[in-house]
Amino acid sequence: MKKIGILFGKENTFPQAFVDRVNSKNQKNIVAEAVSIDVLEQAEPTEYAVIVDRISQDVPYYRAYLKNAALTGTAVVNNPFWWSADEKFFNNCLATKIGVPVPNTVLLPSNQRPDDTSEQSFRNLKFPTDWGRIFDYIKFPAYMKPFAGGGWKNVYKVNDPDDLWKKHGETGQLVMMLQEEIVFDHYFRCYYLAGDRVHVMPYEPRNPHHLRYVVDNPTKDQKLLETVREYTIKLCRGLGYDFNTVEFAVRDGIPIAIDFCNPAPDADVHSVGQQNFDWIVENAADMAIEKAKNHKDNQMNLTWGNFISDIFASPKKSAAKK
Ligand SMILES: Nc1ncnc2c1ncn2[C@@H]1O[C@H](COP(=O)(O)OP(=O)(O)O)[C@@H](O)[C@H]1O
Ligand SMILES: [Mg+2]
Repeated sequence: MKKIGILFGKENTFPQAFVDRVNSKNQKNIVAEAVSIDVLEQAEPTEYAVIVDRISQDVPYYRAYLKNAALTGTAVVNNPFWWSADEKFFNNCLATKIGVPVPNTVLLPSNQRPDDTSEQSFRNLKFPTDWGRIFDYIKFPAYMKPFAGGGWKNVYKVNDPDDLWKKHGETGQLVMMLQEEIVFDHYFRCYYLAGDRVHVMPYEPRNPHHLRYVVDNPTKDQKLLETVREYTIKLCRGLGYDFNTVEFAVRDGIPIAIDFCNPAPDADVHSVGQQNFDWIVENAADMAIEKAKNHKDNQMNLTWGNFISDIFASPKKSAAKK
């Protein structure tokens, strides 16, 4: 028997629909249920071949549980080690290396120093910051957002240097990215599920929350939609996410990746709408079943990003053998 578990928090619609959909497919020796955690003993395997993680970003205890699960052979979606290491600035760096357009972006030192550090802790950092160089590169208006964040928390639009410094002054110890504004003709939010299942959803971030997936006249430009799909796969495979959403703003026909570090993306039927919800439930169920079938006992069953081999595997490597 291969068990598929789902680990979740406050969300109410997706987890049960996912469990029901997997079970309704009547796959031999495969069953889905909500994860149940008892006393957590080191190096003890879980009963699950696959766990879909929807909440460990908010619960450190669960993240530790999932790392132990991964070590003892569970295919955890998404890879908890990678997720712990990842952040949005790295994501942007990676995108530029694999040829996916992103807005011009810099990382700003936090406005306040981390606890228990002093000026001396920052002796390697040039001071004062060369704001002139930053403004030339980013220009105004710009977006400022945490390098590790989500849910539109602490996302600021800034109009000029004074506005930036004022808002940066409100961000405390958060490390913020400053980013060129992309004035867009279209915006897409794309669901990705491993096996290269991609669902492109026209999205209007300027609408109120409940109407963001309601878009008048969505584009029918097949070439553009194909590029969006291709970039989504490239980014998620590069980063090693099995379950993610990728947002693109389209400027002058070019999709520019804005936000692609959403490893527990909103899947609530009340925000994504019934049609999108059905796609997510169906494809998440298929992905989990596929992972359960491919699961091998006594080995690591995680997905890792292919960026290391793709970026660093150049012919120069063989020269080093001499
Ligand atoms: N560089 C940008 N240009 C234009 N709009 C942006 C930019 N960055 C963010 N936004 C807007 O702000 C919203 C939230 O920012 P995002 O990067 O998606 O953060 P979060 O991870 O919190 O969702 C986006 O959906 C988009 O509408
Ligand atoms: Mg976003």
